Amino acid sequence: MPDRECRIVSDSNRGPLVFGLETSCDETSAAVLDGENRVLGHVVLSQDVHKVYGGVVPELAARAHLQKVDAVVDETLGQAGVRLDEIDVFGVTAGPGLIGALLVGVCWTKAVAWALDRPLVPVHHMEAHLFGPSLEDPDAEPPFVALLVSGGHTLLVHAPEWGTYELLGRTRDDAAGEAFDKVAKLLQLPYPGGPSVQRAAESGDPGRHRLPRPLLRRDQAPDGPDYYDFSFSGLKTAVSELVRSIVAEAGGPADAAIERERPHVAAAFQEAAVDVLVAKTLRAVEQTGCPRVLLGGGVSANAPLRATMAERLDALGVGGSVHFASPRLSLDNGAMIARAARFRWERGDVGGLETTASARLAFPCLSSTASAVLQRT
Ligand code: KG4
Ligand code: ZN
Repeated sequence: MPDRECRIVSDSNRGPLVFGLETSCDETSAAVLDGENRVLGHVVLSQDVHKVYGGVVPELAARAHLQKVDAVVDETLGQAGVRLDEIDVFGVTAGPGLIGALLVGVCWTKAVAWALDRPLVPVHHMEAHLFGPSLEDPDAEPPFVALLVSGGHTLLVHAPEWGTYELLGRTRDDAAGEAFDKVAKLLQLPYPGGPSVQRAAESGDPGRHRLPRPLLRRDQAPDGPDYYDFSFSGLKTAVSELVRSIVAEAGGPADAAIERERPHVAAAFQEAAVDVLVAKTLRAVEQTGCPRVLLGGGVSANAPLRATMAERLDALGVGGSVHFASPRLSLDNGAMIARAARFRWERGDVGGLETTASARLAFPCLSSTASAVLQRT
C-alpha cells in the first residue's frame, strides 16, 4: 500500500508471488502465481445457493463469499505450498460486479495487505478476462482484437499492447451471457444458462426456426454507429415470442411443447448469437488489420463460438489465429485476477487504504477510438 513503504520479500527462485482474489459475482476464487505466472494454487468455488432462484441473488452471493473466503484462501495456499506472509503482492477484483460481493473481497484483501505490509492491487474484472488465455497460451498476447463476453458485459476491443485498449463496440442493452441466461429460463433450463443452452442445442436443428441477427446488416459502414455494437434484448424477445407461439400452436400442456422444441430453439438462438459475435469481431480484424483474436469471459467457453470464430477467421485468409482459455480460466477465476494484478503492480498501479469496490468501475486505459483505428486503415 502506498501509505507505507512496502516490503517485497520474494524468494528469488520463485520470483514475486502474486495472490488474486475474485468475488465479483457468484464464484469465490483465489490463486497464487509465481514469478513466471505459473499457477501454484487455484481454487474456484461456485455458489450453488442461487440455483433454485434461476439467477444470482446479490445478498446471498455476498454472504456466501463471506462464509467461504477464508477456506478458499487456505486451500489455495495449501496447494501452492506457501504461507500468506510469503505472498509479495495482493490483487483483488475491485469492480465491476455486485457491490456487496465485491466488498467482501476488497475488504479481506485490503486488511491482509495492510497487516502484512504488502502492495494492494485493485483489478478490473474485465481487464483480467483479457489476461485469462495468456495463462495457458504464450501466444495470447497483444496485438489482438478481443471479444469480451460475460454475464454483464459484451465488449469488442482492439489492444495494440497490454494496457492500451481501444473500444470498438459494446452491447447497447443485454450482455451476451445475460441473453444465454434469459433464453435458458424461457426454455426451462437450469442456471447458469450458457452451458445449459449449449448442451440442449447439441441435438437441435438451428434451421428449424429463424431468429434475427440484431444490428447486423450488410449495408453497415465502418464509420456508422451500428458497425461494431451489439444488441441482445431484441433476440431474447424474439425467442420469447417464438416460445409463446410454439406453446399456442401445440394447444396441449406448455411444458411438453417446450420440451419438444427446446433443442431447436436453443440451437437457433445460439447460432444467431454466435453469428453476430463472430461477424462483428471479424469486421474488427479487417478494419484494424490485426489478425489475432482473443476470446475472454464466461461466454468464451461456448464451443460453437470458438469453432465458428476459428473457421470464419480462417476463411478470411489473413493468417489469423484465435486464442481462448480452458473453461476453468474462461469463467470467473482468481488466477486471471492475479495475472492482471501483476501487470498493474509492475506499472505502479497500486491502491491504498482509500481503495474500495465499485459496481461500475471504468475499464482502465480504454479509449473510444473507433475512428482512430479507421483512420489508420
Ligand atoms: O465471466 P463469467 O463467468 O461471469 C461474469 O463476469 O459475468 O460469465 C458468466 C456468463 C453467464 O452468463 C453464463 O451463462 C455464460 O457466461 N456462459 C456461457 C457458457 N458458459 C458460461 N455462455 C454460453 N456458452 C457457454 N458454454
Ligand atoms: Zn467474468
